[in-house]
Formats: sequence, structure tokens, C-alpha cells
Amino acid sequence: MEAKTTSPRQTQKIAQELGKTLKSGEVIALYGDLGVGKTVFVQGLAHGLGIKRRILSPTFVFMRSYPLILKGKPLTFYHLDLYRGQSMQDFKALGLDEIFEENSIVVLEWANKIKNILPKKRIDVFLKIIDEKTRAIEIKKY
Ligand SMILES: Nc1ncnc2c1ncn2[C@@H]1O[C@H](COP(=O)(O)OP(=O)(O)O)[C@@H](O)[C@H]1O
Ligand SMILES: [Mg+2]
Repeated sequence: MEAKTTSPRQTQKIAQELGKTLKSGEVIALYGDLGVGKTVFVQGLAHGLGIKRRILSPTFVFMRSYPLILKGKPLTFYHLDLYRGQSMQDFKALGLDEIFEENSIVVLEWANKIKNILPKKRIDVFLKIIDEKTRAIEIKKY
């Protein structure tokens, strides 16, 4: 799926629609430069999943988790921002093996940093800045 948006609201709307289709165990990898709208996208995604809490950028803590009930089943929504991670050691310390599991939904900003350890079955979302308010969004499911 490819789209162009001209406001944060519109980007959230697309993310929200994707959020409504997510199932437990899914991994969503976000790619794109600083300020492109990855966190804006995650906010829409969380909204689509029915998460009411405000989604803050986890940049300084790497990861935030949110409890979620999906089709009556308790799950955890993990929001990671790998921007500040330098080494594989940093990423191993997050215990990714434990969060890429059946009862979680994981969304990662700067997913390219751990490209070689991302699960093969995932949804990739590529974001590009076209101009101040315009973003190109491409969603690919594997
Ligand atoms: N079409 C758009 N979609 C998403 N964000 C947009 C758009 N146009 C402008 N913006 C702005 O771009 C910024 C995106 O910030 P953010 O989501 O934190 O980026 P990232 O997490 O990728 O660094 C916000 O200030 C938002 O208002
Ligand atoms: Mg961000």
C-alpha cells in the first residue's frame, strides 16, 4: 500500500486503519528520517488498537509498554525507539527475544538498526519527507 499524507492527522488515520487489522504476535517495523512521522504513526496505530493512553516518544528509555485487550485476550503493546542505540549490545539488553512473542504486538522506530534480527514475518512501513507537510508512506506485509 502506498499513500501520501498532507497532515499528521492523515498519517494517524492510515496508521489507525492498520492498527485495526493487527493480530497478536505481529511486528511493525518503521523506517525513515528524524521528524518524518514515525511517532505520529505509532500514535495512530495505538489508537486503532483501542489503547487510550497517550503515546509518548520512548527515545530516552528505548521502550515503553502498554497493556491491551484484543478480542478479549490480554496482550502487551511494545513501542521501541532504537535511535540512540549504538551497538548490538544495546539492543540485546532490551531482551528482544522476549518481546517478539505470541502475546505481544511490537512496533519499532529505526528498525533498520536491527535489520538482521527482525522477524521475517512482519509489516514494514517506510516513511519519506516530501515537503514540510507531505509524507509518502509505503506499507509492505511479509
Ligand atoms: N503528513 C504528516 N505526517 C506526519 N507528521 C507530519 C506530517 N506533516 C508534518 N508532520 C510533523 O512532522 C513531525 C513528525 O514527528 P515525529 O512523529 O516525532 O517524527 P519521528 O518519530 O519520525 O522522528 C511532527 O512535528 C508532525 O507534526
Ligand atoms: Mg519518533
